[in-house]
Amino acid sequence: MTEAPFDAFRYAHERRTQVAWLSQNTNHLVPPEVVQPALISAIRDRLYEGYPYAPGQPGLKETVLADLGLSPTTATIISAGATEALYMSLRALIRPGDVVLASDPSYLIIHKFIQLAGGTVRELDIYAPPYKLTADRLNEAVTPQTRMILLIDPLNPLGSGYAPDEVRAIADVAKDRRLLLLHDVTYRDFADRHTLACGFYPERTLTAWSVSKNCGLAGLRLGGMVGPDDLIQQALKYNTNDLGVNVLAQVAAAAGLSTKPQWFPAVRAQTRANQDRIREVVEAIPEVHLPVFPSQANMFVIDISATGVSPPDLQKELLLTHGVFVRAGNYLSATYGGRFVRVSFSNPPADIERFAQAFPVALAKLRKAASSARVATAHATP
Ligand SMILES: Cc1ncc(COP(=O)(O)O)c(C=O)c1O
Repeated sequence: MTEAPFDAFRYAHERRTQVAWLSQNTNHLVPPEVVQPALISAIRDRLYEGYPYAPGQPGLKETVLADLGLSPTTATIISAGATEALYMSLRALIRPGDVVLASDPSYLIIHKFIQLAGGTVRELDIYAPPYKLTADRLNEAVTPQTRMILLIDPLNPLGSGYAPDEVRAIADVAKDRRLLLLHDVTYRDFADRHTLACGFYPERTLTAWSVSKNCGLAGLRLGGMVGPDDLIQQALKYNTNDLGVNVLAQVAAAAGLSTKPQWFPAVRAQTRANQDRIREVVEAIPEVHLPVFPSQANMFVIDISATGVSPPDLQKELLLTHGVFVRAGNYLSATYGGRFVRVSFSNPPADIERFAQAFPVALAKLRKAASSARVATAHATP
């Protein structure tokens, strides 16, 4: 009988309270009083017994749109995480043969949705400065088959952000070449400043939003899409949740979004202090570096390619020996994933300190093992 492969997620979930969860860009810094009273009151009122109002609980769309700074009449999908709305939209708008321009590395489930719709993703290599898409490269890559640009901003996994003129230039490419623009703004609140592409190209821009990361509600699964009415109506044809999404998630999202200006600055400040601490640790280790710093999101990539250590081995060693859960890069890039681990840092400082202690120790152990293996192989070779 062959042994089942090691399931890091199962291992970590079984030890949920003992693990420093730096693997999914989740946010563990939101004060519990932001959403807990609203959730408790909804539970006391047994709101969960009835179906929600299917298009989204009254007031939630307006709260989402106010948070994005958009008109309260903008068409909106409220879905089970941004993921569901991304699937619906791509299924509706991508036709067989269409090409979507995106980056490598990237958040690859979106690429998978494009492929499921019959489209192809042209991944533009951005694992070199400036570590992001540029209007020039996009312009060069457009062909008659190109249907859409996917702009993830800030970018998971690198943490690259886009300045207002860069967003405008990319929106202009989409507009000039009559493309759809999909702007995923899941991490926008962590950025120093953020610009919505739909401000420049409202006719054909879809904006994917989420409360998983900013409001610390990943487990409740709530997000969605906003955009021009015709595109949103097409996406809604693929909605399977015709009875609405989780009502408690909607209550929590409304509570989080409507109070965010009061508590998010402290979350951002801690997230920044945490990435500074991780940088200190990384900079003290030879042959390890951060491609992007500071990250405009709540994660970044640590490149370990010069050490000879494999990211999956490092992920496993950190988790099993130190209770620190980071993510090996292969999940984010077929080409570059073997070079890095991704670490997220909207966590309490104690989690970051655990990482700071564990990372050099784990890496040194694996480097030693890798170099002994190399010596053994050299001796074994006649
Ligand atoms: C770029 C990006 N978009 C969307 C999502 C998923 O968002 P949600 O939890 O709202 O489905 C993630 C999750 O990591 C992400 O990184």
